Amino acid sequence: MNDDDVKQTSSRSQRPASQAFKDFMGSRWAPASGEVPARDEAAGFAAERRGRVSAHFAGERLIIPAGPLKTRSNDTDYRFRPHSAFAHLTGLGTDHEPGAVLVLEPREDGGHDAALYFKPMAGRDSEEFYASARHGEFWIGPRPTLEDMEARLGISARDLDEFPAAAGKDAGVTGIRVVREADPQADAVVEAARSEHGVDAEQARTHDAALGQLLSELRLVKDSHEVSELRRSVAATVSGFEDVVRALPAALEHDRGERLIEGTFFARARLEGNDLGYDTIAASGSNATILHWIRNTGRVSPGELLLLDAGVEVDSLYTADITRTIPVSGTFSAQQRKVYDAVLSAADAAFAVVRPGVRFREIHAAAVRVLAEHLDAWGLLPVSLEEALSAEGQHHRRWMPHGTSHHLGLDVHDCAAAKRELYLDAELEPGMVFTIEPGLYFKDEDLAVPEEYRGIGIRIEDDVLVTEDGYENLSAALPRTTDDVEAWIRRVQG
Ligand code: GLY
Ligand code: MN
Ligand code: MN
Repeated sequence: MNDDDVKQTSSRSQRPASQAFKDFMGSRWAPASGEVPARDEAAGFAAERRGRVSAHFAGERLIIPAGPLKTRSNDTDYRFRPHSAFAHLTGLGTDHEPGAVLVLEPREDGGHDAALYFKPMAGRDSEEFYASARHGEFWIGPRPTLEDMEARLGISARDLDEFPAAAGKDAGVTGIRVVREADPQADAVVEAARSEHGVDAEQARTHDAALGQLLSELRLVKDSHEVSELRRSVAATVSGFEDVVRALPAALEHDRGERLIEGTFFARARLEGNDLGYDTIAASGSNATILHWIRNTGRVSPGELLLLDAGVEVDSLYTADITRTIPVSGTFSAQQRKVYDAVLSAADAAFAVVRPGVRFREIHAAAVRVLAEHLDAWGLLPVSLEEALSAEGQHHRRWMPHGTSHHLGLDVHDCAAAKRELYLDAELEPGMVFTIEPGLYFKDEDLAVPEEYRGIGIRIEDDVLVTEDGYENLSAALPRTTDDVEAWIRRVQG
């Protein structure tokens, strides 16, 4: 029994300790099916990704943990979600595999052999089977054996108990890099091996950071499997947005209408995917001006705009990230339409620059210029347009304080550890996927704008794939213009 099980059972329940009980619980279970699972669809892609990592770190041992189960409170855990670098390099998604560690062991020829260390299914005759609420199949359902995992991934699988020795072997001679802070236990194993062999800790950490950065940069250009998973996330998200439009009349009746919307979208995320890619922002009325409004405790009142920013994470853990701003009663007011159209023209301007060879930061520059032009035309800028757009000005950021684009993939803000030259300053390449998401947000208490602007928050966010000669708007199935949004509401609500 491990410590977790002691914590879980110590004072609120008793497990019989008699040999008779143990013998009975460990017997008369049908044997496991023994059926070998098929190779995962992602396995070949993951092997190719590992090959690219390998080429950067010849002769070094690379350690990529999945991360542990995380405690939500007392003895309950969050659902498990592996670290994105681990998911990328194994192809494993939903549920797989708490505490697991991928090790790329260097070979003499400069390549690496991959091994997955994890806690395999315990036999049905073991105490763990019925006694471990965290790991036992009796409690949590089917778990893979080492053979299952080898069949699925095409890499060798080993018991997690063997990891510390494998991680520390020849630590003074073989360089080791670990994806830090994914799993404190894996970090501790590596630290112990390093200190035992007198490895310079500070230098080693720099090497670890370089591994984390490279793994993030490796995801900047998506392979065909990733693009198809992103398409699936977007399709499920589009369905979730339609569910929300269908639920708007009920939301208008409920005293926590925003929660009703959040729950409606979440149902779609669980039906078609693994989870949400991030907490849904279901912000009605002036809550839409609060950028990270995830409390979603508000009412949805007639005539308001609902800013819905939501994404389904599919089982492979790729997520969409889409925002639409929707008139809850079916039609935009003239003032809402005026602000919406400004945001839409900023988005269109951003789309217009997307093609291979253009720098990522040009997308933001294009969107922000259009927003600033509108703010200027409306008389809201306290300085000239050019002064606002200069580095010393930036007055428009009062109403559009976030970036226009971020990479999207396994993480909603994907590739965040990539260096600036490969992110903001990089040239776009086919296969990159990112958002375009300009917005304007006028808070209720903003005395710098006339009253008719206050309480309006609008964002339009699409997910974009760079192609050989331009782009594809992956989320084009959702309407973007005010007329199309209104027609969509009428159609969906029947
Ligand atoms: N939903 C988070 C974002 O749009 O970046
Ligand atoms: Mn986004
Ligand atoms: Mn978003």
